[in-house]
Amino acid sequence: MDDFYRDYILDHYRSPRNFGTLEQPDAAAEDVNPLCGDQIRVELKLDDGKISDVRFSGKGCAISQASTSMLLETVKGMKLTEVAQLPKDAVLENVGIGISPTRMKCAMLGLRVLKSAAIGRLADWPDEE
Ligand code: FES
Repeated sequence: MDDFYRDYILDHYRSPRNFGTLEQPDAAAEDVNPLCGDQIRVELKLDDGKISDVRFSGKGCAISQASTSMLLETVKGMKLTEVAQLPKDAVLENVGIGISPTRMKCAMLGLRVLKSAAIGRLADWPDEE
């Protein structure tokens, strides 16, 4: 159990970046943390297979909200194929504190939903490299 969270985690929790919804998202997904029932939805705007805008909504603990907020700050301009392959470290490096096994599901919720939204549209923009 974490004793307390660092200031930047609390800042993202209290003032989440890219929080809300998009008018006509090109891709979206949502999922729940099975341990607590908290839910996150991610919506993407796409431009030629790259993320041009992103929003998330839902509720959850400080770790789930802050890790989603920090992650989504890094994905604008990324190809769907890159997003679909993002590793856990893409989240853990942002969070910067040790995450207990129980909290890992909280930390990974946003990543899981983001990847699910990206994978859902991957067939429309296969990587042509
Ligand atoms: Fe629900 Fe963390 S306790 S997402």
